[in-house]
Amino acid sequence: MRNSSTRPVTAVILVAAGSGQRLGYGMPKAAVPLGGDTILIHALRGIVAAGVGVQICVALPAGDDGLRAQCDAFRDELADGGPLLTVVDGGATRAGSVRAGLAALMEGVEAVLVHDAARALTPEAVFHRVADALDAGAEAVIPAVAVVDTVKTVVATDGGDAAIAPELVTGTAPREELRAVQTPQGFRLATLLKAHAAAAALDPASAAAVTDDAMLVEMLGTPVYAVRGSTQSLKITTPLDLILAEGLLEGPLGARWVEG
Ligand code: CTP
Ligand code: MG
Repeated sequence: MRNSSTRPVTAVILVAAGSGQRLGYGMPKAAVPLGGDTILIHALRGIVAAGVGVQICVALPAGDDGLRAQCDAFRDELADGGPLLTVVDGGATRAGSVRAGLAALMEGVEAVLVHDAARALTPEAVFHRVADALDAGAEAVIPAVAVVDTVKTVVATDGGDAAIAPELVTGTAPREELRAVQTPQGFRLATLLKAHAAAAALDPASAAAVTDDAMLVEMLGTPVYAVRGSTQSLKITTPLDLILAEGLLEGPLGARWVEG
């Protein structure tokens, strides 16, 4: 394990309680088959292989006995001295699932990595870069990659313009300053608890706009640092992403590609 007396005692919250609407598989995304296993099991294996936490707290869709059984079987695979695997019912939103995980952390945890089960193929090196930045003193750290597309802002057209096209371009974002951010996102526990407590005061529209934990920490005014993520850490969201993930695991090279 990476935890030693000089490292913060770290837990991982794995949020796996989403319904997977965009993947359209007719089952929760965590249960979707991937490379002979499920997305959930790949995500759990990645965390254990990285060796970053004394506890893995998994948020599952409430009442999903199949995914619970997968966690129970996985727990039996863990070596003695491995992380404690805890299962909780997730919430109606991703933030709610993170909060359910926070409520079930072991006594003594000092830092938390929040990871999306949908990023089932995150390389170990990404976990290590995030954990190392926490060790080095960051309150909050996220993995990030450069944006390859040019990104523009738009508004819906109306009146005569609507007959031409549905949207009008209002500007071009400076690409060199943009990053696409991933998980695991790492936090000192006290900072993440404070951020989620503050989130409770947000109006429903602002709460719906919260797509990651770092955003909540940014709202506190606490610095959030970025380390290098990985294109292999794709979020399996659409059917195309699932094809890519399968390709990474079973591609023509016959071996799992690892882009650290
Ligand atoms: N998540 C969660 N609880 C929710 C919603 C999302 O734990 N109520 C988790 C998902 O399981 C996923 C991660 O948050 O690992 C990122 O969410 P996303 O990729 O949007 O997954 P889904 O919400 O399942 O997909 P969709 O939005 O297409 O329904
Ligand atoms: Mg979602």
